[in-house]
Amino acid sequence: MLPRQRAVRYPGSFLHSREITTSGHFEILQIAVSCIRINLIKGSQTRSTSPTQSFLAMRVLSFLALLLPFASEAKLLLSYDAAAGDAASVLGRQDLEGWGGTKWPSGQGQNASAFFTTAKDPNGVPAAHVHKDAHFARSEYHMLVGQTAASQTYYIGYHVSFGAGADYESCPIVFQWKNYNSDTVDTDNIPALLVFRQGSTADQYIIDFAAEADPTADQNISQKTLWTKELTHGTAYRFGIVINTSPTAGYVQLYFNGRLSTMISPSTGEHTTKYAGNFWPGETEPKVGLYGGQATNACDSYVYGVAIGTTLADIADVAGIST
Ligand SMILES: *[C@@H]1O[C@H](CO)[C@@H](O)[C@H](O)[C@H]1NC(C)=O
Ligand SMILES: *[C@@H]1O[C@H](CO)[C@@H](O)[C@H](O)[C@H]1NC(C)=O
Repeated sequence: MLPRQRAVRYPGSFLHSREITTSGHFEILQIAVSCIRINLIKGSQTRSTSPTQSFLAMRVLSFLALLLPFASEAKLLLSYDAAAGDAASVLGRQDLEGWGGTKWPSGQGQNASAFFTTAKDPNGVPAAHVHKDAHFARSEYHMLVGQTAASQTYYIGYHVSFGAGADYESCPIVFQWKNYNSDTVDTDNIPALLVFRQGSTADQYIIDFAAEADPTADQNISQKTLWTKELTHGTAYRFGIVINTSPTAGYVQLYFNGRLSTMISPSTGEHTTKYAGNFWPGETEPKVGLYGGQATNACDSYVYGVAIGTTLADIADVAGIST
């Protein structure tokens, strides 16, 4: 059984707003103010003020005033919720690649060989079904295109399960923090990622959280494993990836099923929940889906939800974190 979407627990989320803006607050206030106006007009027309109505209107106002500080904490940059029927396109820009890594024809949409569509998982639970056929290199969504910057902290919640073919050969990479800066991509292609690798037996599937802390290290694929976990196909997992993009005081953190994970520093062997480094080699943006491997298996994953924000509370629901 897959865990159901957890009940909303964090402040502000009940507004269920993709981005709760100050203009949103203004609208709420305006509605409350109009309620009071109606009360006053009614009062003057009938020449009998209704203390009950005024009292109620004041209660509405003070209740809303209480909500404002919570609402302004939540700055969701992106929210995808399959159960709410969101189209996968809310994730950003679809990125497909063809047979053997060939470029996907421009202007051509997804097809049965590679797609990423809101549908259902094999148990009938709403999810984006991500698929790529054997030999197809990529079925991803590129998120926050052109919207990331240095010296920020991004919180990325990712609720996902992996289908039977999702092995290390066919689709190694299921999350990327991908460098799009052509000046640095040669030495720092993917500063942080979730990647499958082979376990000790043929049917053991292991996922690694790996990162490259030094963008100037002169190898293309020099990410080092920080954390590792054996996964089961068909089980839904909740990841919370935290990336601080300060070039001098940056770090990454990982929550797995709601718990902050202890990582092992590949250089010092130190156990840490906050791995320091420079994860900002210039324009770097998150991606989810399936990428890499061109082996003989088709592979599938099911994405129940993605949230990206600027506080831990923003992703608490999707990442299963109790705050
Ligand atoms: C989907 O499009 C790709 C790229 O043009 C093509 O190679 C592939 O054969 C198509 N698949 C199907 C099922 O039409
Ligand atoms: C490193 O990876 C990037 C992105 O995939 C690629 O464009 C570049 O050619 C690679 N550089 C080397 C030296 O392999």
